[in-house]
Amino acid sequence: MPLDIVIGTQWGDEGKGRVVDLLSRDSHLVARYNGGDNAGHTVIVGRQTYKLHLIPSGIIHPHTTAVLGSGMVLNPQTLSEEMEMLRAAGVEINPDRLWISDAVQLITPAHRLLDRAQEAAKGKGQIGTTGRGIGPAYVDKAARRGLRAGEALDPDHFAGRVREHFEEANRLITGLYQQPGLDVDAMIEEFMAYAALMRPFLRRSGPRVQAALDAGQTVLAEGAQGTLLDVEQGTYPFVTSSTTTSAGVFSGLGLGVQPVRRVVGVVKAFQTRVGAGPFPTELDGEMALFLRGTGANTWDEYGTTTGRPRRVGWLDLVLLRYAREINGLTELFLTKLDVLSGLNEIPVCAAYRRASQTLSSLDFSGDSRLLAQCEPVYQTLPGWQEDLRACRSWDELPAAAQDYVRFIEEQAGVPVKYISVGPERSALIERS
Ligand code: IMP
Repeated sequence: MPLDIVIGTQWGDEGKGRVVDLLSRDSHLVARYNGGDNAGHTVIVGRQTYKLHLIPSGIIHPHTTAVLGSGMVLNPQTLSEEMEMLRAAGVEINPDRLWISDAVQLITPAHRLLDRAQEAAKGKGQIGTTGRGIGPAYVDKAARRGLRAGEALDPDHFAGRVREHFEEANRLITGLYQQPGLDVDAMIEEFMAYAALMRPFLRRSGPRVQAALDAGQTVLAEGAQGTLLDVEQGTYPFVTSSTTTSAGVFSGLGLGVQPVRRVVGVVKAFQTRVGAGPFPTELDGEMALFLRGTGANTWDEYGTTTGRPRRVGWLDLVLLRYAREINGLTELFLTKLDVLSGLNEIPVCAAYRRASQTLSSLDFSGDSRLLAQCEPVYQTLPGWQEDLRACRSWDELPAAAQDYVRFIEEQAGVPVKYISVGPERSALIERS
């Protein structure tokens, strides 16, 4: 009963899509357990680029079953669009290979509107959310008034609940945020159509995932966002509203705690962040442009969901050690090593300096104010000039690139098992 987990070790956008794509080959079920369509997972297969926000990217493999777990928040409009996009690309979508937990919470246009209104009202203190309604949907869940997908199985009941939801949301939208309310009847009509769309796919998915594990099938849990965006352990309040760490897999899929075979931490060869919040190794100027790219390529550092340019900086090993600890990482998947080609030297943050103390680890529980007081202490490694994109084995990497990888694994205390050197599926080095 192997359960494998893929986790972002940074602030999201580490390149998890391609990692899941690789590991899905040997998985029966590929499941998402947190977040919603704030995520953006890109997989490039030949000439086809898949950009998925909601449906697990493992669905691209015809032998898999994709699961949307109860820990997620689901925008049915995005679901409908992604189903259409995948079908147009020749990916089969049917109730045998897509299970949606009946306990998943629905995102509505009211949540999206409130997300944006709340951000605008914050002024300078904005979090920089994706505007997808994630926070307000989780607020409704925690307040025990959210719409669960399973309610759509009973149309009369669902229509009443949708009315209740929009009437309540309108009171907030018109009263507190002084904006025009949503047309409740139009929303009911829209959501009844979504109910019909979702109905065949709704399942009590937890016991089914458990049964698959008990039958010896491999389940791959695909984490969305990254460790440092976790609502509890991330850089609060500059976080998303779900559990992005490995611990969220059990509640977010409805499983009992059980052994996990692998927890693969995805780490980019440098650091990026979208949205606000502390970022000790952040760069600007020429070097930032170098790492970010111009935006001409899909793999440049611009948000898959929002198109926003990402903030960029040098790799931060203090935060990587933190991610190792709270996720129980068993191995690392290093992405975008090819981007560093052409640098004479590469600084890596190996420790922090704070109040004249040097710290190799930070006991910070995601305390943003504490992190903001930390100065990076860099160790500078030699760079390399060679283009890595054609490398397919460890031995083909230049010595300086090998040293960079070895430095990361020594400092992080976890082996680097895979290295990606380009956006396409084949641009991969697997280490024995
Ligand atoms: P929200 O999840 O839309 O509420 O956004 C909260 C924070 O998480 C913001 O800083 C977003 O930029 C960030 N965020 C959410 N999803 C992703 C993602 O998939 N990649 C990177 N950052 C994300």
